[in-house]
Amino acid sequence: MNITVIGSGYVGLVSGNCFAEMGNRVNCVDIDPIKIEKLNKGIIPIFEPGLETMVIRNVKSKNLFFTTDLKEALQNSEIVFIAVGTPMGDDGSADLQYVLSVAKSIGQFMQKRLIIVNKSTVPIGTADKVKAVIQEELDLRGSTIEFDVVSNPEFLKEGSAISDFMNPDRVVVGSDSDYATEKMKQLYNPFFRDQDRFMAMDIRSAEMTKYAANAMLATKISFMNEIANICERVGADANQVRIGIGSDQRIGYSFIYPGVGYGGSCFPKDVKALTKIAKENSYEAQLITAVEKVNDAQKLVIAQKIVKRFGEDLSGFTFGIWGLAFKPGTDDMREAPSIYVINELVHRGAKIKAYDPKAIDQAKEHYLKGVKNITYVDSKYDVLKDSNALVLLTEWKEFRLPDFEKIKSLLKIAIIFDGRNQFNKLNLEKMGIEYYMIGK
Ligand SMILES: NC(=O)c1ccc[n+]([C@@H]2O[C@H](COP(=O)([O-])OP(=O)(O)OC[C@H]3O[C@@H](n4cnc5c(N)ncnc54)[C@H](O)[C@@H]3O)[C@@H](O)[C@H]2O)c1
Repeated sequence: MNITVIGSGYVGLVSGNCFAEMGNRVNCVDIDPIKIEKLNKGIIPIFEPGLETMVIRNVKSKNLFFTTDLKEALQNSEIVFIAVGTPMGDDGSADLQYVLSVAKSIGQFMQKRLIIVNKSTVPIGTADKVKAVIQEELDLRGSTIEFDVVSNPEFLKEGSAISDFMNPDRVVVGSDSDYATEKMKQLYNPFFRDQDRFMAMDIRSAEMTKYAANAMLATKISFMNEIANICERVGADANQVRIGIGSDQRIGYSFIYPGVGYGGSCFPKDVKALTKIAKENSYEAQLITAVEKVNDAQKLVIAQKIVKRFGEDLSGFTFGIWGLAFKPGTDDMREAPSIYVINELVHRGAKIKAYDPKAIDQAKEHYLKGVKNITYVDSKYDVLKDSNALVLLTEWKEFRLPDFEKIKSLLKIAIIFDGRNQFNKLNLEKMGIEYYMIGK
């Protein structure tokens, strides 16, 4: 099929590339000419495992093209995906300006029947808005071209985005048109060789499914963090409790690691947007509001432990940070807990030495730009020299089994604050390392 994907970020680039991998001819469009120029030179603007090789292969086989020219891209397309950002607006709701501006351009440029697919995470009812904007543009042109708008929320996880897209747990398509549903089914069929996981439903249910999924996952995280905070106060060990409850199949082990809270480009904004959606529809989403409140507080729990150990005034102390990205496997720092922890420590006068395998450029250029007293180093052990303690904030694999003797010898005082509960407290204490974790 001929496809256009509008927005070449984490979702658009991965989706476009995976559709191309299945033999489709895909135009990836972005408004950012620098991004497109880089992509045309084979430079991938984001880090996502496996993406670079795949992009180069698909460009070479002429299945994948990058352009800023939407008009031209639409000429041969049958299906157009909208995969632009829906960031948090000033009032907490999803900002639809990019989605609606794309809809307007589609209405201006389309020359033949199109299926327009909302892949961006959008509030319930957005498909109707997109439809109205496109129709308005067609009316202005006096055009009677037919089109369908469907919802196809994306569930990929940064860090494993390609395998998630290539082997999806499900593909949700919300549609009120048999024609569009059938086309979407054909497009996704190659991704379901072993078992059909295509789920067709009405448009609003599809839009809601994405918010419900993210709110559920965020709830698991905040629930476990709350349990961990209670564990600390009653003398229980949250890690043991985690193992104890995860074995129950109704609960399961995933998303119940106590830690520094959730971050990233999705959970924070989607949880907030869902409370807004509820409110606009005269419902107070008490549980979801609490999930966010618990998470906001959780981001500072590790800083509070540092203050408890070193005092309110942290001037004169240096902290070595392992991990800046909001999770391992990505360079994405949007809403990363590291931003909150580092700002809190610096605000109290501390100096920071930081290392992350992939996110240092993002930190320098955007998320910690202008933060004073922070230096970035190229290796995890360089962080430790002249530091008073190590603070682990992202559970990258390379931090899982470090040389603890080396850590001990390099730090000024052998102290680890583990925001991801990676290490074994008893073993470290036996080695003479002071160890602080979440939930014990
Ligand atoms: N990142 C994830 O893990 C993830 C997972 C599932 C769903 N989502 C959702 O997918 C959507 C996209 O997220 P993302 O992380 O890929 O965003 P992103 O910020 O990485 O990428 C968005 C891209 O859209 C481009 N863009 C903006 N306006 C445009 C326009 N008018 N024309 C063409 N391009 C335009 C931007 O330049 C940018 O490259 C969001 O709604 C997000 O909530 C994201």
